[in-house]
Amino acid sequence: MVVVDHRRTSAGFALLVVPDTTSAALQVAQLLVDELQQQRQPLGLATGRTMEPVYRALVDELAGWSSPARARLLGSWQSFNLDEYMGIGPGHPGSFAAYMAHHLVDPLGLDPARVCLPDGLAADLAAEALRYSRALAAAGGIGLQLLGLGLNGHVGFNEPPCGPEAGTRVVDFCPTTRAQNAAAFGGDPAAVPAQAITLGLAEIRAASRIVLVVTGAAKAPVLTRLLQEPPSPALPASWLQGHPAVTVVADRAALQEGPG
Ligand code: GLP
Repeated sequence: MVVVDHRRTSAGFALLVVPDTTSAALQVAQLLVDELQQQRQPLGLATGRTMEPVYRALVDELAGWSSPARARLLGSWQSFNLDEYMGIGPGHPGSFAAYMAHHLVDPLGLDPARVCLPDGLAADLAAEALRYSRALAAAGGIGLQLLGLGLNGHVGFNEPPCGPEAGTRVVDFCPTTRAQNAAAFGGDPAAVPAQAITLGLAEIRAASRIVLVVTGAAKAPVLTRLLQEPPSPALPASWLQGHPAVTVVADRAALQEGPG
């Protein structure tokens, strides 16, 4: 694992610059292992393409552990996902429940009951959002919150405009987000559900620690905005400023930096 550089940004983030996606994944997987070893509060987990190599790196790392050591680490696993699409359930390959089963629950042999997501098939969406936020609060809130970054600056599915106090709720998608996530729905933005339940910025900002992972050149424009702009509803991720423990793990492509 090659960590290129530790910096502190003017926005107050610790910035970990890594050469590429693989290095980012190894770095973040290690942070997850460290957090699991402490087992203080539930993990907050994200989905999306950015997290696929991260979860693969976690699975690979633990494959090298002895069975008792793995069982100790994973035995009291508890996690809460950021979000879920509305109108689809675990049986739909585009759902985040299916994503979690594929990338973590099945390969790690986790108890699915300990990997919590909003229920995308709930009849009353607002009631489901409330149930989910209460379940998280009852579990003690998030310890380490893993975040990806949307092209429009969303974290979870907190779409712009969004203020810092927004709680867990039902959201409507921007066209950018449906386009960004179309790959999981046969490439057709119109096939992406129109709504989701997301943890709010309030719950995300209440996490003890936040790790935002940004990789690839496509994220360079939004990462530049995040590192340079003051907090505003137009860029929901900007409300992470002011949190005392945010680490941004970014590769050189996302930072528009050439090989060192
Ligand atoms: C998605 C999810 C987030 C994810 C982000 C980035 O829409 N709601 O949890 O982190 O947007 O996605 P990706 O990693 O695919 O670029």
